[in-house]
Amino acid sequence: MFGRVKPLDAIIATAERKSLHRSLGGFQLMLFGIGCVIGTGIFVLTAAGAQKAGPGLLLAFAIAGAICIVAALCYAEIAAIMPVAGSAYTYTYATMGELLAWTVGWSLILEYAVAASAVSVGWSGYFTGTILKEFLGIQLPVWLSAGPLALGGAPGGLINLPALIIALLVTWLLMLGTRESAWFNAVLVAIKVAALTAFVVLTLPQAELSRFNPFLPAGMFGGFGTGVGAVGAAATIFFAYVGFDAVSTAAEETKNPQRNVPIGLVGSLAFCTLFYMLVSAGAVGAIGGQPIMGPNGVPFPAGSEELARQCALPQYQEYLVCSHEALAHVLRVVGYGTVGNLLGIAAFVALPSVILILLFGQTRIFFVMARDGLLPEGLAKVHPKWKTPYVVTAITGVVVAIAAAFLPVGKLADISNAGTLYAFAMVAIAAMILRRRMPDLPRKFRAPALWLVAPAAIVGCLFLFVNLPFAAMIVLPGWGLIGLLVYYAYARSHSHVGRGVVEVHEPEYSDLEPDIPGIADRGRD
Ligand code: ALA
Repeated sequence: MFGRVKPLDAIIATAERKSLHRSLGGFQLMLFGIGCVIGTGIFVLTAAGAQKAGPGLLLAFAIAGAICIVAALCYAEIAAIMPVAGSAYTYTYATMGELLAWTVGWSLILEYAVAASAVSVGWSGYFTGTILKEFLGIQLPVWLSAGPLALGGAPGGLINLPALIIALLVTWLLMLGTRESAWFNAVLVAIKVAALTAFVVLTLPQAELSRFNPFLPAGMFGGFGTGVGAVGAAATIFFAYVGFDAVSTAAEETKNPQRNVPIGLVGSLAFCTLFYMLVSAGAVGAIGGQPIMGPNGVPFPAGSEELARQCALPQYQEYLVCSHEALAHVLRVVGYGTVGNLLGIAAFVALPSVILILLFGQTRIFFVMARDGLLPEGLAKVHPKWKTPYVVTAITGVVVAIAAAFLPVGKLADISNAGTLYAFAMVAIAAMILRRRMPDLPRKFRAPALWLVAPAAIVGCLFLFVNLPFAAMIVLPGWGLIGLLVYYAYARSHSHVGRGVVEVHEPEYSDLEPDIPGIADRGRD
């Protein structure tokens, strides 16, 4: 059952045929990392995180950040051996065989596609709140700005039109072959970092210690399946770190990787962790971050109908946990309306690039799976003029847009996290298998203390997973079951490895690789 392993030689040979040659430094890697990572997680989900953890949200950011850092080290080691598209899916194929690789590829759909939907919904909050309402004075009716499930079942929502439109627009750009240039990525990173810095500088001086008390109103552990407490919040705001894995594939293109990969990957994650903690301290300290408690003393679930009802009451209007554009909201409440609006513009401008990176990652994973024969090859068709896998991009984009139109951001993020945590744990396992089976393989980057780091990543991912809300947790096995049906109905019999075809792909595909955003414009020879 686990016998169909993709030969590592063929993967490495494919990588060697790539015609891309780059020499990235640690700082450039860090910029790419930050560009992928900062998005809806911090700009929007801070509200959901506070509803789960209360002021202890800072702790939640620290827990999730630490787990991502150990996972990133495993990613980096293995990506330096196999710098090919498909990331976790390909690594699993080479170490644990086709069936598990399929499950990883299948769960990466949750990571990338569902995350793209979540970021689209997050963007929509800033678009309707800042651009339409604050600047143009237009109040979009609820039925056009929230999906039917977005208010936890409370009446009013029908479709999130802005989220639908932005997802389709980004898909269109991707089909045309749009990539971010390194320069553009750097500008967006600067905008995001400037916005968050302004936030910290303006809110921290207004912080009052009393607002941090009680620090953990829902406790450290809210209980299995409840998704509340500090670790429940960590499981949700883990989303704020998702995306760095797309960057780990740059390990091969990095100058002096043993030094620069940790600077780039760990540096960007450590930077974000620190920043996120400061931002959450500023938000909570300035306006308070206590959750709205249910009758039994447990916070109402984030994104639930009960919470939406409470948030409609006048006394909760200014609560952090009720806002759809959390950071801009905090600034407005403390009297910095203009800066709040500028921050809203920063989110409006920068979040589409996160959607682009996630959608890009998703289409490349589908592309590689189709190239391996596990999905219909028609999906991997490359457009003669645009040089993009336009079929799979269009299909993915439409599905992402529909999910964004109808589902709430917090639920989408939780579902995305479930898939991502599974993929991260598998990468940590793959890194250990490769060290054991092929200890002498040339490694451009060796993770320090792998035998501690990889188990820590696995335990950390499992820990966050069991602290997700039950509804998100259950999606992973449910989705996996559908995946297995598809595998046995289609993929198994069409698999190229299964049919004994060993492929080394030609450089013509190098246009589509690697999964690194923001550097596709660099030199090729
Ligand atoms: N980490 C990315 C975000 O927060 C996906 O939007």
